[in-house]
Parts: sequence; C-alpha cells; structure tokens
Amino acid sequence: MKFKYAMVGAAVLLMSSLAQAGVSKAPWGKTADGKAVEIFTVSDADLTVRITTFGARVVSIEAPDKNGKKADVVLGYDNVAGYEGDTSTYFGAIVGRYGNRIAKGTFSIDGKTYHVPLNNHGNALHGGPAGFSSKVWTGKEIPDGVEMSLVSPDGDMGFPGTLTVHVSYTVVGKSLHIKYAATTTKPTVVNLTNHSYFNLAGDGKGNILGTVLMIPADRYTPVDATQIPTGVLAPVAGTPFDFRKPTAIGARINDANEQLKIGSGYDHNWVLNGSGNGLHVAAEAYDPASGRTLTVRTTQPGVQFYAGNFLDGTKTGKFGVTYQKNAGFCLETQHFPDSPNEPKFPSTLLKPGEVMLSETVFTFGVK
Ligand code: GLA
Repeated sequence: MKFKYAMVGAAVLLMSSLAQAGVSKAPWGKTADGKAVEIFTVSDADLTVRITTFGARVVSIEAPDKNGKKADVVLGYDNVAGYEGDTSTYFGAIVGRYGNRIAKGTFSIDGKTYHVPLNNHGNALHGGPAGFSSKVWTGKEIPDGVEMSLVSPDGDMGFPGTLTVHVSYTVVGKSLHIKYAATTTKPTVVNLTNHSYFNLAGDGKGNILGTVLMIPADRYTPVDATQIPTGVLAPVAGTPFDFRKPTAIGARINDANEQLKIGSGYDHNWVLNGSGNGLHVAAEAYDPASGRTLTVRTTQPGVQFYAGNFLDGTKTGKFGVTYQKNAGFCLETQHFPDSPNEPKFPSTLLKPGEVMLSETVFTFGVK
C-alpha cells in the first residue's frame, strides 16, 4: 500500500514539475487613437506576471515574501491611459529601437550620418518620443508565456531598416525569462531592454533605499553632464559605484560625488564582469524587511542601474500611491549607452541576414 502511495506521489511530483505556467489573455481597453490593447496573465505556483501589448510592458509581478505572502513588486498603472499619459518613466516597457542614450541623436553607419529625434537634454533617449514603449505590439500565447512582436518600419523614429522584433516573456518556476530577437532589412543600431521598476517590499510601499544591492562589475561608464558616457571604463573601487559587496542602495547615494550629482543618484551603466559567457549575473537585490530577493542574469555586457531618481510624486500608480523619488529601481540589462559613437564599446550594429539575440532572467526568491 505504502509503495503504491509513494508511486502516486512521485507521479504527481513529476507532473507538477513538468507543469506549464497558465497563460490567459483579455482585452485591456484602447489607446487614445482607438487601437485595441490586450493583457496577458502568465502564472506559475510562485509567480504571476501580467504583460500588456501596449509597449510590451510588464504591468505586475506578484511574488511571495518570506512568509509566503504575495505582493506586486513592480511599479505601473491600472490601465492604458495611465501608461499613455506618462512619457517619462517607461514603467515596465520594452524600450527601443535604441534603449538608453545616443549623443546628440547622431550616429553614422557605412559613412552615412543619421539624426534621430532629441528627447533628453539634447540627446536621444529610449528610441525617441514614439519609441517601442509607446507602440501596440502583437501578443501571442506560447508555452509558459507570451510572445510580443513588432515591425518597426524603415525610417521609424529616424532609424534605418525595417526592424522585426520578437520579445518572449515566459515564467518557469520562480523565474521570468525575457528573450529578445531582432532582424533588419538595412544596417541599423539596436539596443533593447526592459524598463521595469522594482520595489521588493511591494509597489507603493515606500522607497528602495534600504534594498541591498550587489552588482558584479569592476568598472562602470562615467558620464558627462548630459549623461553621455565619456568613453572611459572607470574602476568602481573606492567610489560609491562599488557594489561588488552587497550594499544598501541608500548607503552612499547622497555622497558628494560628481557622477551621483549628474544623475541625481545612481543612473549609470555597469560593465559586467561575467560578460561573454552566456547568462551571467547582472545584479542581486534583497529587501531585508520582506525577505524578497531578486537575481538578474543576462547575456548582455552591461546593466543600467537607475534608482528612480527622477520620480517626483507627480505620478500615481496601480495602488493609488504617488511615486516619490526612489519608489523603485531599474536594472536595465543592455549594451552600453551611446555605443554607436564609441567604437571601443561592444557593437550594437545589426546587419541584414543577422539575428540579434539576447536573454535576461529575473529570479525571485526569499531569504
Ligand atoms: C533610464 C535613464 C534615466 C531615465 C529613466 C526614465 O533609466 O537612464 O535617465 O530617463 O530611464 O525616467
């Protein structure tokens, strides 16, 4: 008898370990110009993630704390109008075609110079004023998740080549996997990332200054007064940018430091030590109060750690709470900012016939 039960137990265990995450889809209203928007819910036992076709954005991530109590750990809005009315935070979005900055919105490919729109202190940021974060993507259910697709026409926001992009979000156990693939019809530059703001205590539950962060990077890319990298890969040793040992985000954020002054806190790109070897750790975060942890692994060479310095209490999120400075932090895995103008940085050039692939995995845990 006992043996029989053990067999049944083993079979159940096997089935549950093979179980796929549940995926469902629902209409989610319309954009101001009448385009229908959808929302997908992907859930496994430990994680429920909602993703909308508007900007291929992560709307919510519910993850358990050390007592098993779930909370939504990303910032965002209740509806499309919330996202459409906010052109400065990029909450949860896929940013592109070129995430982060291009100096003076100018770059050259094969001797031809391109000018893309300036939307941030004389530079181009996150693909321009009508970048990928503001497009309605096409969503499709796939095993364990959803695939978001977008065709960006030749000349879209000034960039050459028709770019076809697929971004898949899948939930496996405690991990959210984001896989990116892009192809082009003409040589172009591409830098895609996800711009989720995390608060491991829960969305709207105070600031993230007590979150303990680790970034395995010996160097970072200091910036000029307009947040464009100087081209130098500077050592973090002896600076407030040294997160090689886990340190509270708020411990040094107000130090007298020229770089921190420029970003009003952390808003910089770190050069990841593990780069070049498939998935490597980009960051580990830990909220001591809830016990929640987040581990970020990526195939990308850099991570922009942004401490939500420009949140200023003018935006009200899903739970009716206004987002004050440092209400969430971003870990934007990416190629380095302004790579098209820095030949020594890893290249962001994509040519016809090539496929640009990358992957980032966000794993939620407790300790
Ligand atoms: C990125 C940039 C920041 C800011 C945010 C959005 O992280 O580096 O400067 O623009 O996006 O507000």
